[in-house]
Amino acid sequence: MQTFSIGLAGMGNVGAGVFKHLRGNRSLLRERLGYELEVRKIAVRNLSKDRGCEVPAELLTTDWRQLLDDPSIQILVELMGQKQESLELILGAIERRKIVVTGNKALLAEHGREIFEAAMRHNVPVFFEAAVGGGIPIIKTLREAFVANHIQSIHGIVNGTSNFILTQMTEQGLGFADALRQAQDAGYAEADPALDVNGGDAAHKAIILASLAYGFWVPPEKVFVEGIEHLTASDICFAKKLGYRIKLLAVIKADQGQVEVRVHPTLVPASHVLASVNGVFNAMAVRGDVVGDALLYGRGAGQDATTSAVISDLAEAADALSSPRRNLGFTPHSLYGACKPIGECTSEYYLRLAVDDRPGVIAEVASILGRLQIGISSILQPEAAEGEIATLVLMIHRASHAQISTALSQLGALGCVRKTPRMIRVEHFS
Ligand code: NDP
Ligand code: HSE
Repeated sequence: MQTFSIGLAGMGNVGAGVFKHLRGNRSLLRERLGYELEVRKIAVRNLSKDRGCEVPAELLTTDWRQLLDDPSIQILVELMGQKQESLELILGAIERRKIVVTGNKALLAEHGREIFEAAMRHNVPVFFEAAVGGGIPIIKTLREAFVANHIQSIHGIVNGTSNFILTQMTEQGLGFADALRQAQDAGYAEADPALDVNGGDAAHKAIILASLAYGFWVPPEKVFVEGIEHLTASDICFAKKLGYRIKLLAVIKADQGQVEVRVHPTLVPASHVLASVNGVFNAMAVRGDVVGDALLYGRGAGQDATTSAVISDLAEAADALSSPRRNLGFTPHSLYGACKPIGECTSEYYLRLAVDDRPGVIAEVASILGRLQIGISSILQPEAAEGEIATLVLMIHRASHAQISTALSQLGALGCVRKTPRMIRVEHFS
């Protein structure tokens, strides 16, 4: 039976899972694939660290360049999660005609174009199923299963850590810091967990999905990003009262050749399926012009789920080695190419204001919104004790980002508005 040799760069959460499950499910993989997948070398920083499984010492090295220089290695799996070193490793592997498998979404979001230009020059595939949605096969689905479709929109919960935090805060009443600690202990969070809470990781994934769907690498600076770090228990509570759940959503839409890519906390109607995606689970609602609506759901982070995605890429890499195919992992095309400026993107909104509890306040607020042609769809003002600051929650009809930004700064400048107004987008998936 033919054997394909793998160099594994990184044996942390994900790398250790790949090594463990390649061994554990070896006979199943051999039966299904018709060849052996064998790890020949593993690069780590610390040779004496416990990997949670038995690793022959002779496989380990602290020098990832050895994986490039070993001519017997045919597939290079990059799971170090670094920037410069991972980029050097991937470009070096492509030059040496080693197929690349990576889960490094931050790197792809920033250097996807450069990586795939090299991949095309050398005709070497780069596979990245683990980069988005953990164990959910969203990359292969977009690339292969939905090849017949113009993708009209993708709405995704694509960060497991932030969804886990929001679920713990909403369902268990847990504080932000405790919920984040639990996510880190479970191996869901990035090495730098700020990326999970500030929307950065979800933005990396949104860039990858949009690039795959629309055939050009979306520049990171064109993506609007807001994280969950400023969400308060009272917003979560008001949202619930109004019939919504708050989710960190990646919104990707095509509009007359322009592509809109944004990531932000969003009020999702409690009746919508995405509102029930809880804990570490991710989901992507994809709308294509041929397939219609489709939903993919599964574990978005963690060792085993991500390992499943990496091994599926390994199988694809081995297939490509045994019979070369056209699939390089990403196919550019020229039907799209421009991103919609955020100012022109429209949405509905939730607005929370801390205001003086006195006559005329609602009129002042309404007059600013009216002058800006912004419509109010409902108002909620829970009773406040005399002399206390009142909370005013307004649901706002569709308006552009530019309109609502102007409204927020004018409202913030009103004497009766006591704190910076809080705005969260609302999505009805129409
Ligand atoms: P970890 O931090 O747990 O693991 C990183 C591994 O890379 C460690 O084994 C580390 O060695 C090794 N490493 C880092 N730098 C070097 C270097 N310069 N030379 C040699 N080895 C190095 O990360 P994860 O396993 O969680 O993530 C790996 C990648 O997968 C990241 O890009 C991440 O974004 C992505 N990913 C992670 C998911 C998850 O759920 N965790 C899900 C999907 C993708 P040592 O152990 O000795 O320190
Ligand atoms: N930190 C990431 C998350 C890992 O929580 O979604 C999976 O990409």
